Amino acid sequence: MLFRQLFDKETSTYTYLIADEVTKSAVLVDPVLEQVERDLQVLQELGLTLRYSLETHIHADHITGANKLQEATGCLKILPEHANYNCADRKITDGEILQLGGVEIKAIATPGHTDSHVAYLINKVSVLTGDALLIRGCGRTDFQSGDAGTLYDSVTQRLFTLDDNTLVYPGHDYKGFTVSTIGEEKLFNARFKGRNRNSFIELMNNLNLPYPQKMTVAVPANQTCGHIS
Ligand SMILES: [Fe+2]
Repeated sequence: MLFRQLFDKETSTYTYLIADEVTKSAVLVDPVLEQVERDLQVLQELGLTLRYSLETHIHADHITGANKLQEATGCLKILPEHANYNCADRKITDGEILQLGGVEIKAIATPGHTDSHVAYLINKVSVLTGDALLIRGCGRTDFQSGDAGTLYDSVTQRLFTLDDNTLVYPGHDYKGFTVSTIGEEKLFNARFKGRNRNSFIELMNNLNLPYPQKMTVAVPANQTCGHIS
């Protein structure tokens, strides 16, 4: 399996390129509009064919590159079911497996940051956690139908029940981290360690963070897979 972690500095967003090295088929997870040229170049250099553009959720902080990637490559746009959008070629449901040659991508419904957020387990060894679980943190729950109690349940019951050695690749990082493990996050993630559901809800409901700068543009644009009107 080929696995690349790509970064957008402006929004601190990770995009993941995953490919089967035999069939050369590839998927991009959470592509960023401003980085599409970079992503296309990497695909070309590595001789890969982009089959799918996949989202963990409808983002509020950046605009997806899905439409632009489809225009350039003909890839299919896949979004989580239940999300509010009008542009998917295909929806992915909890437990569904997307097969890419020998690479298996399994959807794990992990709502809470948004109501339709999905994480992706890759070949049972790595999990793309989107904004549900960040390294030593988690996504916020105060907009886009977010719900702190639901996020607590998703992380503690769906992600923390994966094998401790599972590698954690988040949707963002703001501190310079790139990868962690489920075991490490159980031990050191202060949002969850030693907290019950109620204390997590109290913590999340009192973060008082400003809304993301791009939110009013990004959310509607992402509901159309990156069309800006
Ligand atoms: Fe997000």
